[in-house]
Amino acid sequence: MSNWIKNGEKSRQNTSFIFIMKDTLEIIDLHAGTKEGKEILRGVSLKIKKGEIHAIMGPNGGGKSTLAQVLMGHPDYVVTKGKIVVNGVDITAMTPDQRAKQGLFLGFQYPVEITGVNFGNFLRMAVNEIHDPKVKKLSPIAFRNQVEPIAKTLGFSEDIVKRFLNQGFSGGEKKKAEILQLSMLKPDFAILDEPDSGLDVDALRYIGSAINSLDYPFGLLLITHYQRILHYIKPQFVHIVVKGKIVKSGDSLS
Ligand SMILES: Nc1ncnc2c1ncn2[C@@H]1O[C@H](COP(=O)(O)OP(=O)(O)OP(=O)(O)O)[C@@H](O)[C@H]1O
Ligand SMILES: [Mg+2]
Repeated sequence: MSNWIKNGEKSRQNTSFIFIMKDTLEIIDLHAGTKEGKEILRGVSLKIKKGEIHAIMGPNGGGKSTLAQVLMGHPDYVVTKGKIVVNGVDITAMTPDQRAKQGLFLGFQYPVEITGVNFGNFLRMAVNEIHDPKVKKLSPIAFRNQVEPIAKTLGFSEDIVKRFLNQGFSGGEKKKAEILQLSMLKPDFAILDEPDSGLDVDALRYIGSAINSLDYPFGLLLITHYQRILHYIKPQFVHIVVKGKIVKSGDSLS
């Protein structure tokens, strides 16, 4: 890894002057923990602009998933200090659905199976909900026309959206289904929590293709343990999270 910046040194990610900007996800001195008072995030600061890819790596239990969940507003966690700002809007106190409408998306490390909820209906409703109310709603046919090529890029049969959400999906299918949602929802900022864990090489390539074929600038926060995904998705910045803090930031793994 080259050009490492130690925590505390002046850098793009760590500056004492904070400017609230559009087209940016800003995580400002974020402290958070459980409702029971266990502190997990101990001052995370990070700035991601649209079009940038940031990878987060680090040991098990460092707080990577907690950061992802706190960014999306998981109710099990409490922010005790700092804030999260998306496109100049402070979302720290918002509910997950409000955050989604502000342009955030989270692909889970462990996607849950939701029996009885049809994947396609769920996704079409989600797309229609986060759109500006003035934008025409996607009809089932328009939705299908949009989903089909994305499903194909991911190596899915389009029948996947006829099933219950994640119900009986293989581990790899669950991860790819998260990317299908990302591709349809087109967020300004996507957080992907280990999209590569448990994937074989083909699935990894499919995920890389689907993400790289998104034709608009979005910011990506990619949490991973493995360098192999970085062959398909190339980050401009890599951060190491240990014990709830970014301890190192660099510009690549080379
Ligand atoms: N809801 C919770 N209640 C209690 N402890 C929690 C909770 N959520 C996270 N933790 C703890 O916080 C620490 C960080 O967990 P987290 O899942 O964020 O780590 P991680 O960096 O994503 O690890 P991994 O690489 O294994 O996915 C762990 O010690 C975990 O047990
Ligand atoms: Mg995790």
